[in-house]
Amino acid sequence: MPSNANQKNNDEISMIKYRATVGPPENYDLMGAFVFNLLTFLGLRESHKLLDIGCGSLRGGRLFIIYLLTGNYYGIEPQQWLIDDGINNELSKQLVENKQPHFSNDDNFNLSLFNEQFDYILAQSIFSHASESQIRKSMREAKKVMKPESVFVATFFIGEENYEGDEWVYPGRTTYTMEKMTQMIEEEGLICKKTNWPHPHGQTWIAVLMKSAPGNVLKAVDGIFGGTNQLLDNTGKWLKEKNMKIQNENQKLKKENSQLQNMLKNSKLNITKQNTLLAKFFSMSYSISSRICDVLSFKKKNNKS
Ligand SMILES: C[S@@+](CC[C@H](N)C(=O)[O-])C[C@H]1O[C@@H](n2cnc3c(N)ncnc32)[C@H](O)[C@@H]1O
Repeated sequence: MPSNANQKNNDEISMIKYRATVGPPENYDLMGAFVFNLLTFLGLRESHKLLDIGCGSLRGGRLFIIYLLTGNYYGIEPQQWLIDDGINNELSKQLVENKQPHFSNDDNFNLSLFNEQFDYILAQSIFSHASESQIRKSMREAKKVMKPESVFVATFFIGEENYEGDEWVYPGRTTYTMEKMTQMIEEEGLICKKTNWPHPHGQTWIAVLMKSAPGNVLKAVDGIFGGTNQLLDNTGKWLKEKNMKIQNENQKLKKENSQLQNMLKNSKLNITKQNTLLAKFFSMSYSISSRICDVLSFKKKNNKS
């Protein structure tokens, strides 16, 4: 194989690897779009400072770095190769030199290491792998770097069980009930709001706010998510009703089907009964007619003699 073909193959594999390491590679673009839309929907402007916890290969970062003014993007990612591959394949060294994003390889949720206050904090697909102590630490650290009006959005998997281990779980996942997540965040002195912002892989978005959040921030978050809730609630109701109708229809069909089967069974039984009667009748008529024949031929014989 020519060496440039080999090179292409290796490049393709490495491109898939840095994308696949952070989630389903076929949704790499979509996931980035979802987080970018959410934060701009919540009011992110180019002058704001954003902290991206566990920024990975810059799935969202590639959009934020371009959008924000120079020096306003901060990413924490323990695996430097993911940041490098993200920069080399999704952005360019030149662009990164111009935009001067800040990175750290910290792996202990030290959000205050940049000595900055942030307008927005993002943790996309981080609490879906984190332990309770890691989530609580993030909250304690977030409080240090949030202003009253800051908004911290994060995703996690809602489940019936609360993960009780201490370790980061990857590529598996951790789950928490909504009540447990709210409790952890409130006990660390912050407000937790569940949202219905969509997630392509079934995670739930929460907004974490300071207790001192001004009314307009609370209202903005409630307003946006309230609106979305309303929309989804209506769609949910419509789907439920449609489902109920289909289920009722199904039950009716099942009933009709079993009635038809019973009728078929009964008519089969009847036919068998009729057949047996007919057979009996024919054998009886056969024996009667053969007797008549015997009598007649006996008489004939006697008459001749
Ligand atoms: C599922 S990926 C999500 C990456 C990124 N947020 C995105 O949406 O594309 C989880 C990321 O968290 C990083 N990570 C693991 N331990 C971490 C820690 N202690 N602090 C911050 N990030 C961590 C992983 O290296 C990985 O890049």
